Amino acid sequence: MIAVIGGAGYIGSHAVKRLLEKGESVAVFDNLSTGHRWAVPDAASLYVGDLRISEEVDDFFKRYKPEAVLHFGGKSLVGESVEKPMDYFETNVTGTVHLLKSMAKFGTKKIIFSSSASVYAGNDGSLLTETDAVGPKNPYGASKYMIEQMLDWASKAGDLKYVALRYFNVAGADPSGEIGEAHAIETHLVPNVLKAALGETAHISIFGTDYPTPDGTCIRDYVHVGDLIEAHLLALEYLGRGEDSAVFNLGSGTGFSVREIVDIACEVTGRDIPVELGPRRAGDPAKLVASSEKARRILGWQPQRTEIKTIVEDAWRWHNKK
Ligand code: UFG
Repeated sequence: MIAVIGGAGYIGSHAVKRLLEKGESVAVFDNLSTGHRWAVPDAASLYVGDLRISEEVDDFFKRYKPEAVLHFGGKSLVGESVEKPMDYFETNVTGTVHLLKSMAKFGTKKIIFSSSASVYAGNDGSLLTETDAVGPKNPYGASKYMIEQMLDWASKAGDLKYVALRYFNVAGADPSGEIGEAHAIETHLVPNVLKAALGETAHISIFGTDYPTPDGTCIRDYVHVGDLIEAHLLALEYLGRGEDSAVFNLGSGTGFSVREIVDIACEVTGRDIPVELGPRRAGDPAKLVASSEKARRILGWQPQRTEIKTIVEDAWRWHNKK
C-alpha cells in the first residue's frame, strides 16, 4: 500500500493514476481544499483528512499502514505565501511534523517529498545543482526547505529514508486528457496563458518586464507532470534498494521566459493571445533553471514529454476537454 498525501491535487492525482496502472494499491489523504474528489479514481481509497489535525493523520496511518508515502500535500502558491506566511508554515511544516510522527508510530519508513526549486535563491549563468546554496525568496520556498531539513534530521535520528525532489515548474497534463491542472484560483503561467487563449479570461498578465533577463521577463524551467511522476516511481525503487536518502532536482535544463511561453502557446493553439504588461509579483526570482544530471545518473530518470511544445500541447488538450 502506497500513501499519496495530497493525491486529489494536480500533481498527486497524476501519481495515483500511474501507481494504479502499475498495479499498486493506493490510499489518498487529502482535505480537498484545492484537490478534487473526481480526480481520485474509485480504485484508490480516499481518506478526507487534514494534515494540520494530527488525530486525522494518525487515523489514516492506523487504517492503511502504508509501506511508503508520496507527500504532495500542502499549500503551493508563491504569491499567496508572501501574503499569508503563517498559513504556509502551519500546513506545510506543522502538517509534515504530524505526518512524520504518524509514520514513525505506525512503522512507515520511506517518504518521497515534493520539494521545490524555490528553495534556491535563483541563478545567473550556470544551471542549478543540488549542492548550490539555498536561499528561499518567499515563505513557500522557506517551508519546503524547512521540511527538507526536518527529513534530514529525522533520518539521522531513526530509520526513516527520504528522497526530496526539487521540482522546477511543473506543467502539462496526462496525455489521455482525463486529468490535468484544475485549480479554482489559477495562478500558474501555462494554464493562465491557455485560459486567455480560450477566451475564459480577457488576457494574460505578464508580471514584470524589468528583470535582468534578455527580454525582461522571468525565466523558468518547465517539466512535464508525467515525467515528474516517473521520477517518483524511480525514487521509490531507489529507496527500495536500500540506497541512502538524497535530494534531486527535476527540471529540463532549459529555461523559457514568460514572453517565450506566450509565443509558444500562440503557436500551439493557433490563436492570438492578448497580453497585458504588469508589475512584478512579490517573491519571484528572475531565473530558475535546473541541472537534473544527478536524477538522470542516479535514478536513471529519462524525461519523455519534457519538451516545451509537448508540455503546452498536453495542457491545451486538457483545457479544451474540461
Ligand atoms: N506569471 C505571469 N503571469 C501569470 C502567472 C505567472 O507572468 O499569470 C509569471 C510569474 O511571475 C513567474 C512565471 O510566470 O515569473 C512562472 O510563474 P508560475 O506561477 O507559473 O510558477 P512559479 O515559478 O511562481 O512557481 C512554480 C510553482 C511552485 C514551484 C516553483 C518553482 O508554483 O510550487 O514553480 O520554480 F516551487
